[in-house]
Amino acid sequence: MAPTPPSVVNAAVVNATMPSLSPTARTSHDAHRFSVAPMMDWTDRHCRYFHRLLAPSALLYTEMVTTGAILHGDRDRLLAYNPEEHPVALQLGGSEPEDLAACALIAGERGYDEVNLNVGCPSDRVQRGRFGACLMKEPALVRDCLAAMREVVAVPVTIKTRLGVDELYDYGYFRDFVGSVLESGIDTVIAHARRAWLSGLSPKQNRDVPPLDFDWVYRLKRELPDCTVVINGGVDSLDVVHTHLAQVDGVMIGRAAYHDPWFLAQCQEALADGGQPARREDVVEPMSAYIAARVAEGIPVKHVTRHVLGLFQGRPGAKVWRRYLSEHAHVDDHNAEILDQALSAMSRVRPHEGRSLAAGPSRAAR
Ligand SMILES: Cc1cc2nc3c(=O)[nH]c(=O)nc-3n(C[C@H](O)[C@H](O)[C@H](O)COP(=O)(O)O)c2cc1C
Repeated sequence: MAPTPPSVVNAAVVNATMPSLSPTARTSHDAHRFSVAPMMDWTDRHCRYFHRLLAPSALLYTEMVTTGAILHGDRDRLLAYNPEEHPVALQLGGSEPEDLAACALIAGERGYDEVNLNVGCPSDRVQRGRFGACLMKEPALVRDCLAAMREVVAVPVTIKTRLGVDELYDYGYFRDFVGSVLESGIDTVIAHARRAWLSGLSPKQNRDVPPLDFDWVYRLKRELPDCTVVINGGVDSLDVVHTHLAQVDGVMIGRAAYHDPWFLAQCQEALADGGQPARREDVVEPMSAYIAARVAEGIPVKHVTRHVLGLFQGRPGAKVWRRYLSEHAHVDDHNAEILDQALSAMSRVRPHEGRSLAAGPSRAAR
């Protein structure tokens, strides 16, 4: 396991609050079996801590951080993470091999377990910077970027890409693109299984409108059996997970993990050797301790609570939980008791649900 980064604050407090979730032995082969996707503004370090409680074995990705922000911005703030987040991968956005290498070096020094290059983001801002999905049009440059990154870090360097971009959308182009980037020496490709349209669609539409084509990713794995191939896009049930894992090495879960985080506990139970919390309520205590530690650092509770709104998704009382947190997190920045209060509100409003919550099923079932 990578060393603890020096930039982490209050690590002792955080450590003391972790529940006794068993650590999971990992091999390089299964490191990508299931992961939580990089999601800008969502998968910050508070979110990742929460996800880690639910899924001790998941590989967690940061939001994309641009090379410019790391090299010229508030690096300590951007790259800070909690030691419990391991294994955690830093996703970089950029297209200058030298800058990417400099950032990969920094990531390695700070103990990140993987450095990933974003070749999938279609936003205008990213296109103006000539990185993200538009890099699919420049396979040689992507290869050089990845090679430069690999040269300076010992941890794996990986790529997250789309199936194609604009008119460059046929299987042959996709395969050749991947073949070209593998010349850099990397061996892991994460494919968001749809094309990106660089004009006419917003980033949000670009996650829904272009159809998913899983067969391309399956075929890639068949043709490149030595490459670790991870599939991403629309993974939202264990059935889908099992279908994909019969064909490829790993699944990367994005929106489903954020909106219904208990799905991660289900994946942990199904795909790893346990260690997930028995019940949703079991993460409330460690998350409350985490919030207390952050409040002590001056971080408003709402920065953390916004990520846990979906904890009871699909369960009785889910709306009360969500509403309580949404309405109260903005009122008092220092209220470290807020999660317990939200649980009580669930019991008060619907007493029978409160009882069933307290005595809920003792396994990771919905
Ligand atoms: C709010 C949001 C922000 C995202 N930010 C990033 C990002 O920073 N880097 C990236 O590679 N993908 C980003 N994505 C795309 C996801 O990583 C993922 O590829 C996409 O949502 C499809 O997976 P899903 O259907 O499981 O959500 C983002 C998605 C969402 C919803």
